[in-house]
Amino acid sequence: MSKEEDWQEVVKKAVDQFGTIDVLFNNAGIYIIKPVTEIELDTWNKLMNINVTGTFLGMKHVLPVMQKQKSGSIINASSVAGLGGAPGHALYGASKGAVRIMSKDVAMEVAKDQIRVNSIHPGYIDTQMADYGAEQQGSTAEEVGKQYPLGRLGKRAEVAKTVLFLASDDSSFTTGAEFPIDGGATSSL
Ligand SMILES: NC(=O)c1ccc[n+]([C@@H]2O[C@H](COP(=O)([O-])OP(=O)(O)OC[C@H]3O[C@@H](n4cnc5c(N)ncnc54)[C@H](O)[C@@H]3O)[C@@H](O)[C@H]2O)c1
Repeated sequence: MSKEEDWQEVVKKAVDQFGTIDVLFNNAGIYIIKPVTEIELDTWNKLMNINVTGTFLGMKHVLPVMQKQKSGSIINASSVAGLGGAPGHALYGASKGAVRIMSKDVAMEVAKDQIRVNSIHPGYIDTQMADYGAEQQGSTAEEVGKQYPLGRLGKRAEVAKTVLFLASDDSSFTTGAEFPIDGGATSSL
């Protein structure tokens, strides 16, 4: 994610093999929960390099291909932590907030090329990341899920289906938008 030469190589390989790049899903990311006063600068820079710089580099290198095609859909993985605050989330939340606004900025920049850019905002989904997050807060992922309005954790396939919708022409008039996939968590009072 954070090495520019790797992005250049992956874009070249994709174009050599497939001719076009129709979809970029910037999904890779890391999650670290820590009180703001305890975050080492190295830790801050490492997470920002992957979550923010990586998302930027992916778009930087894929967009010229999409701009030539005059088509493409980019989906960036943000989080509910990019929509609201939580204790211990200054670092991760800052990175996902940056992904949210960067997605809108780039969406406005490339709309003239018929390229769409949207962000997704999952709550806890049934992955190791949710296990880690819940454990750091003295709970389990299942228990956190029970507090969501829909009363359960999200499933990986539920994220995938939203991403597929955004990747496909079914969402052809949707750009610069943000999609919570959180069982209603960010709409709850
Ligand atoms: N799982 C959740 O509950 C949840 C909630 C909100 C947002 N998200 C976001 O969804 C995305 C996917 O999360 P996940 O749950 O699948 O996490 P995960 O830890 O299961 O997978 C993350 C992936 O990113 C890859 N990765 C990490 N650093 C990388 C790097 N420097 N270069 C290339 N790849 C790298 C890892 O190898 C791994 O395959 C992340 O951006 C995460 O922040 C997840």
